Amino acid sequence: MDRIHIKGGARLKGEIAISGAKNAALPLMAASLLSDKPLALTNMPWLADIAFMADILRSLGVEASYARGPRLSDGGRLELSAANIASTTADYDIVRKMRASFLVLGPLVARMGHAKVSLPGGCAIGARPVDLHLKAIEALGAAVELAEGYVVVTAPDGLRGARIEFPIVSVGATENTLMAAALADGETVLINAAREPEIDDLGHCLIAMGAKISGLGTSRIVVEGVKSLGGAEHSVLPDRIETGTYAMAVAIAGGEVELVNTRGSLIGTVIPLLESIGTEITETNRGLAIHRNGVRPVAADISTSPFPGFPTDLQAQFMALMATADGVSHIKETIFENRFMHVPELARMGADIKVEGDMATVTGVDRLKGAPVMATDLRASVSLVLAGLAAEGETVVNRVYHLDRGFERLEEKLSGVGAEIERQSA
Ligand code: EPZ
Repeated sequence: MDRIHIKGGARLKGEIAISGAKNAALPLMAASLLSDKPLALTNMPWLADIAFMADILRSLGVEASYARGPRLSDGGRLELSAANIASTTADYDIVRKMRASFLVLGPLVARMGHAKVSLPGGCAIGARPVDLHLKAIEALGAAVELAEGYVVVTAPDGLRGARIEFPIVSVGATENTLMAAALADGETVLINAAREPEIDDLGHCLIAMGAKISGLGTSRIVVEGVKSLGGAEHSVLPDRIETGTYAMAVAIAGGEVELVNTRGSLIGTVIPLLESIGTEITETNRGLAIHRNGVRPVAADISTSPFPGFPTDLQAQFMALMATADGVSHIKETIFENRFMHVPELARMGADIKVEGDMATVTGVDRLKGAPVMATDLRASVSLVLAGLAAEGETVVNRVYHLDRGFERLEEKLSGVGAEIERQSA
């Protein structure tokens, strides 16, 4: 199993190209099931989760081919064709490996009138039910049955538009419903819809395929169903979590780095927050310039919440940063109940963190100390890498496959700006 070795203390200088967003790419790939015409996705990152979604789609009969961009910093191009859907069943063995595979449900039912998808089950960061996805598809007129760990959804006469009010904001349920509603008969109104930029991106791709959607970027999205969708070419939006992660890498390690192929609006409230703790951030014509001189970051409190609030997917990275801050910081996780798995690992590096329920209290220390640590989930793993950049001595991050699910060429991007980081294959 690969390991990442980091020698802490190097200041970062140079530029990092931000990849296309994994969490936009996955639903966009599922959207290919809605049409018998090809969908070409550009600015595609190449990640384990993307390869995995391509395998799921292939198991349903979709043709998928990926070509890398001319330079490493260019995104790839993924061509998908769902001209012939050979199966409407997504197996347990496939779905259990990646929850986002549940996003094939809405498109399959909308186009084929049938889908049998394994229930994803819990995962390391929490129970993560799919009840909202199922209630929404039922509201669109489908019959939902649970049998032997599978959800069997049928709508032999097609879906019909409905008014759907989500009791809580769910990114995945909004995406599944948006895709299903695109081919439903009549108007669907999604109330309390998620406003994450990835929803916007999916909506714009569906519009390019011929869908009629308004209200994107707001919590009330209106979809006027159409009979069929066509092909399209769509560029995946930049990864806001990768953007925020590298901005925090500079904030923790110090230095001056330009993040290119991204934009500030994607990380919204994270910019003033990082500025308030002593990081300088400037919008450039290519992205964002991040600068922190030698002064220690100042402690600040955050609470995770749906977009435009502080993203849960940056909580672990911010905690690593606060572990070295001057003062005491309170970090509240409101989205997932078990998303503090990085705490014991950061503690191995000398961090002083106490967790009570959904609140972590972090008392900053002068300097973290390198240690062998274990990655537990994608974002937790990268928080250990950030901690390693600032720590004294060597940090070895085990179970790197978690990182490979969502950070493209991480060690290459960081060593490119001067970090002492390398991957060793065991
Ligand atoms: C998406 O997950 C992301 N995944 C997650 O990123 C991200 O952490 C999360 O949104 C929140 O921003 C992808 O986009 C592929 P939710 P999703 O439905 O859609 C509860 C990463 O590291 N809920 O918005 O699964 C749920 O348990 C990943 O890249 C229900 O109760 O998240 C959670 O508490 C991890 N019933 C809350 O809603 C449901 O039917 C928000 O989850 C659905 C969700």
